[in-house]
Amino acid sequence: MYTLGIESTAHTFGVGIVRDGEILANVKEMYKIDNKGMIPIKVAEHHLEVGSLVIKKALEAAGVGIKDIDNIAYSKGPGLGPCLRVGFVYARALSLKHNIDIIPVHHGIAHIEIVKSINKVKDPLAVYLSGGNSQILALEGEVVKRYKIYGETLDIGIGNLFDSFAREAGLNPAWGSTVAAIASKGKNYIGMPYTVKGMDFTFSGLLTYSTKLVKSKRYALEDIAFSLMETAFDMILESAERALFISNKKAIVVAGGVAQNTTLIDKLKTLAEDDGVKLYFAEPEYNADNGAMIAVLGEKYAKSGVRFKDADISINQKYRIDKVDIYWS
Ligand code: FE2
Repeated sequence: MYTLGIESTAHTFGVGIVRDGEILANVKEMYKIDNKGMIPIKVAEHHLEVGSLVIKKALEAAGVGIKDIDNIAYSKGPGLGPCLRVGFVYARALSLKHNIDIIPVHHGIAHIEIVKSINKVKDPLAVYLSGGNSQILALEGEVVKRYKIYGETLDIGIGNLFDSFAREAGLNPAWGSTVAAIASKGKNYIGMPYTVKGMDFTFSGLLTYSTKLVKSKRYALEDIAFSLMETAFDMILESAERALFISNKKAIVVAGGVAQNTTLIDKLKTLAEDDGVKLYFAEPEYNADNGAMIAVLGEKYAKSGVRFKDADISINQKYRIDKVDIYWS
């Protein structure tokens, strides 16, 4: 069974192809972000321009033709409306033209499921950290399951925190990865607002405070970036550890764009060791937004035999992760 997945929730237009859990292709084109951030309609225009070529390259990389594809999965949401629509239209057009089953999938669940699939791990506690989302989740239920949110950000996503800090500090490119590179040179910890409420957390106070420190010019940027990341990650760790005990899961999976951060991975490894569970993560290629994760999740639905109603074949900018039915563990 061949499944092609299309990702287009934000800056990335990605196409992946999988066969029985094996990733055969993962091709993508990213919209270049300037200091103004992302203007959805401009990003959608980019996706429209590159879409056909990315699909063609993915088919070539996998060594298959469109007629070999059994299912087309696409990101239903959450994401930027105009960008989601482009991915959906490509998926719908290919599905109709070649009579291929179409499968709508949740972007966040795809981030988690690809890490589970690569590591062959079942039923973990999931730490999902990306630009717009930061959530601690685990599956619950018997036959039909859903991800229960144990803890989440009450304001901005952790990736957004780092990207916004990068913009405010005038870094180029204004990415969280630039902040991470600078933070790796920091040594002196500066106390910062630390807010965990139960298993939820907030980041906007941290953004305001760290930005103020940059403007004050009283501290080295390296130390501010280092302290910002340390504080934000420690908040996530506190929440994750509490959720681990409450959910009684025996493994942790970390997923999403921010899971590319090695400081975060090292901290989670230590936490997992201390608590006697295993930590699983994936290569950066599969944590950044990508089409392979959409294909992996699409294939799981196809193999579970679920049929989607016409009304489900749509986009949903605010698609909630805890409202999606899951048929595996
Ligand atoms: Fe993402």
